Amino acid sequence: MSRDTAINLIYLVAATSFIVALKGLGSPKRARQGNLVAAAGMLLAIVATFFKHVDGHALYHVPLILLAMFIGLIVAVPVARFVKMTAMPQLVAIFNGVGGGAAALVSITEFVHIKSTHPATYVTLEVLLGVLIGTVSFSGSAIAFAKLQELMTGRPVTYPGQQAINGVVGLGAAVLIIIILVSSSTPLLWVLLGVSFLLGIAFVLPIGGADVPVLISLLNSFTGLAVAASGFTLGSNLLIVAGTLVGASGILLTRLMSAAMGRSLPNILFSAFGSVVTASGDATRADGRSVRSGSPEDAAILLGFASRVVIIPGYGLAVAQAQHVVRELAEELEKKGIEVFFAIHPVAGRMPGHMNVLLAEANVPYEQLKEMDEANSELATTDVALVVGANDTVNPAATDDKTSPIYGMPIIHADLAENVLFLKRSMRPGFAGIENELLYNPKTTLIFGDAKDTLTKILASVKTS
Ligand code: TAP
Repeated sequence: MSRDTAINLIYLVAATSFIVALKGLGSPKRARQGNLVAAAGMLLAIVATFFKHVDGHALYHVPLILLAMFIGLIVAVPVARFVKMTAMPQLVAIFNGVGGGAAALVSITEFVHIKSTHPATYVTLEVLLGVLIGTVSFSGSAIAFAKLQELMTGRPVTYPGQQAINGVVGLGAAVLIIIILVSSSTPLLWVLLGVSFLLGIAFVLPIGGADVPVLISLLNSFTGLAVAASGFTLGSNLLIVAGTLVGASGILLTRLMSAAMGRSLPNILFSAFGSVVTASGDATRADGRSVRSGSPEDAAILLGFASRVVIIPGYGLAVAQAQHVVRELAEELEKKGIEVFFAIHPVAGRMPGHMNVLLAEANVPYEQLKEMDEANSELATTDVALVVGANDTVNPAATDDKTSPIYGMPIIHADLAENVLFLKRSMRPGFAGIENELLYNPKTTLIFGDAKDTLTKILASVKTS
């Protein structure tokens, strides 16, 4: 077997491992395994690449490549190990951005290489698409990171004529690509680079901080396309397959997230959602109705009388880092013969699988996690719904109020349970910025405070009762 055939076979194994890994990532139980399979496939492909010969030459600049890999390793390993779960979206944004940037650099290098070795040859479309998409992904991800890291406002940044201006910049990039295709002009390549950089920033600015995870998934898909374009440029089948897989899975995830939020992708990208907050944040509403609040001890008594309890976690669970204490509470209730399950909304938190990851970290058994539809079918026969830092994902306005911005979003029907215990710190709204009728429901008792503190007190009280 020739060297090339052997390397291509290894690439085939690597590409297959990426597909197997994606299948594994479809369930929290197999996700870790899936990740390992993909990492093993990638390692295999990297090692094989070192043995590749191009135009009869072995790989150039091996020490420099190894140095770059070493630097990447010493930066990425501690960052990935010590990142807080709540900071995961910004980490993904950074990783995604550098992926897009790398794909753009490959395309630029190839452009310069073609021009210096074959001045009479025209550059091909995929090289320019690699520059455009990779750079948009790079600068867009940088702004997404800044929003999530609160280095700039998380609110949508809007100005008059914004959509039209963005349209003109996008059109300008398309025209530039056509001109470069026919002229192979190097100065215009730098202009395209600048315009693409601006386009990425302009595209992300009007998107509200909490919609940014959906955007990151879309940018991730762009990065996949840029990598696939680099694959065509370099004649690498593996890059084409891997890039296409990232592109396709990114767009599927974007669609799934939009559907779970009950919103269309254009609405997420262009409506500047989150710029208007309609909830008052007041415990007494204009119509005079007020909420009922209670103490952790009251909550413990109610839980002690229940025979079935559902815990509905949301973003506040992540903020409070209350996953361990909520698991302890569930165990303590089960010891008392109370059935406990967790109801998981697909967009609870701020990133896909946020609740699954948090609860897995705290060793909550997978069997205790029920997806939204299954949980909803059991809520009417549940005594207590314990809402821990969730808000929009249990807001009945999504089904009852046609004028609500979240109308159409599927929710967990906590209101069907006999009693609702609502853990939050204040009357502030959730991500959508709207009032939650469930807070005023006579079934509901609010326990104000940080979720971790409140759960710790409830647990202590349950233990002594
Ligand atoms: P949210 O509606 O955002 O509500 C979070 C709640 O947690 C708030 O009521 C907040 O109230 C409370 N909270 C925050 N910190 C807390 C703490 N330390 N202790 C106790 N409570 C705390 O959460 P959700 O129900 O999970 O909904 C997620 C929202 O994000 C949805 O609108 C969804 O569409 C959107 N979104 C999700 C994703 C993904 S993929 N998951 C992506 C983009 C957007 P206080 O401030 O009063 O404590």
